[in-house]
Amino acid sequence: MSVSLPIYFAPMEGVTDAVYRRVHHAHFMGIDKYFIPFISPTQNLVLTPRERNNVSPEVNAGLRVVPQVLTKKADHFLWAAQLLHDMGYDEINLNIGCPSGTVTAKGKGAGMLLRPDDLDAFLGEVFAHTPARISIKTRIGFFSPDEFDALLAVFNRYPVHELIIHPRTREQYYKGTPHRDVYAACREKTRLPLIYNGDLFTADACRTFAVNHPETRALMLGRGMLANPALAQTYAGGAPLTRESLKAFHDDLFAAYREAYHTSAVLGRMREVAKNIACCFEGADKPLKAARKASSIAVYEDAMERLFGDYALSANPCFSERS
Ligand SMILES: Cc1cc2nc3c(=O)[nH]c(=O)nc-3n(C[C@H](O)[C@H](O)[C@H](O)COP(=O)(O)O)c2cc1C
Repeated sequence: MSVSLPIYFAPMEGVTDAVYRRVHHAHFMGIDKYFIPFISPTQNLVLTPRERNNVSPEVNAGLRVVPQVLTKKADHFLWAAQLLHDMGYDEINLNIGCPSGTVTAKGKGAGMLLRPDDLDAFLGEVFAHTPARISIKTRIGFFSPDEFDALLAVFNRYPVHELIIHPRTREQYYKGTPHRDVYAACREKTRLPLIYNGDLFTADACRTFAVNHPETRALMLGRGMLANPALAQTYAGGAPLTRESLKAFHDDLFAAYREAYHTSAVLGRMREVAKNIACCFEGADKPLKAARKASSIAVYEDAMERLFGDYALSANPCFSERS
């Protein structure tokens, strides 16, 4: 019997905020680390209230969380690393995978993959002065997977705590097939601890991947967790998702958002939740559509009551592109 790998909950800006993480952790087991969506230091070196809300130790009490920083400037990274270290964090994650056009146009996120020499200089400065361990979340290139060998050669020069690889290029965004062959080839090319991220949507897929890629130290799951919040729990041998466990999670999340945010923000968050868990139900298009278009709390509540009251859970609730 194979031993389960540790599971990391991927950072997802706009979704996996502190409220989401806390409620998820209260309902489901199986997550070893929750990665916090990125903070992006600006010239005046202050955290926005939203960023502070996301990383403050109080809101993350009881969870193992890793903050993430998105910047191309070593002094900005080091400022954030010191601040986060002072808050008690001993690992900081560097985001060099974000594919968003507004981010890459500024040379940040996946934009940093375009110039391995600049990346090397950045990492040289950062590793010389960092107060905390640094893990890196990366893609395998900007335009082509052929870029990855040069990038890996740069990473190999530094004591990267963990290298999290999403084996798509920036051009692919989240489309097309991840280049698992490029990931697998890393086994021969690096001694850095490797974490795999990309398109693992079922517990069986996680198990098969782990068996086929023994170089992997942990799996990072993103959209699969949003679609089926019990995915990591099931992989770890715990209970699969039930309608009751999904409803309890949903209801607590809804209540927690209502406490934390004003109505339009609550609706924004919950519409996204309804979209993400759509795959858990079959033939439930009507209430799901109503929930995703809801313009008031009452309409949303009514739609979700119908969904949980009248529809059974799918046989294999998991993320799919159409959800
Ligand atoms: C809505 C959304 C927001 C995301 N925000 C971040 C982020 O803040 N930082 C980051 O490193 N990746 C971010 N990602 C990428 C995910 O962490 C993950 O790498 C991606 O979803 C692929 O993994 P998956 O196939 O398991 O979903 C985001 C992805 C999505 C869909």
